[in-house]
Amino acid sequence: MLQLLLASQQRIRHFTALALRLGHAQGATPAELSGTAARVARYFTQRLPQHFEAEDFALLPRLFTTTISTEMMRHLWGMKLQHEAIEQALSKLVPLWLTLRDSPERYGELAESLARGSQQLMLLMEVHLHLEEQYLFPLVRTCLPPEALEELATEVLRGRDLLN
Ligand SMILES: [Fe+2]
Repeated sequence: MLQLLLASQQRIRHFTALALRLGHAQGATPAELSGTAARVARYFTQRLPQHFEAEDFALLPRLFTTTISTEMMRHLWGMKLQHEAIEQALSKLVPLWLTLRDSPERYGELAESLARGSQQLMLLMEVHLHLEEQYLFPLVRTCLPPEALEELATEVLRGRDLLN
């Protein structure tokens, strides 16, 4: 399960960086702009929601049943709220990416909003990932028995198959 989470973090960082580059891609060709916008939009509308779902509905409920400190409880709740803030930032970016995917010649008029939105996304993600690395992962490692981790991983992978 931890490997799945770590792989997810890497993918999140990769696509967030790609989104940020798309906000500063004045030299790119229309085909490059359209292709990158399509990949970024696909990731953030299909894969990321699965990751959030796995954390919110599979991982967190299990952690809440274990004995954790009030402070940790606050951190976990904070992470869940951050998911919502990220989703809100994405709700502004996704339409821009889809427009760029279909009409890359409109890059000039979209660039500023893309740059601003992706910068905000990057900040939200960095705070979030850092919090997870600092609190969530060590907790998962120490709090959940190996069988629970395996069960979780199977559940998450099964969910992914269903959603794909
Ligand atoms: Fe998360």
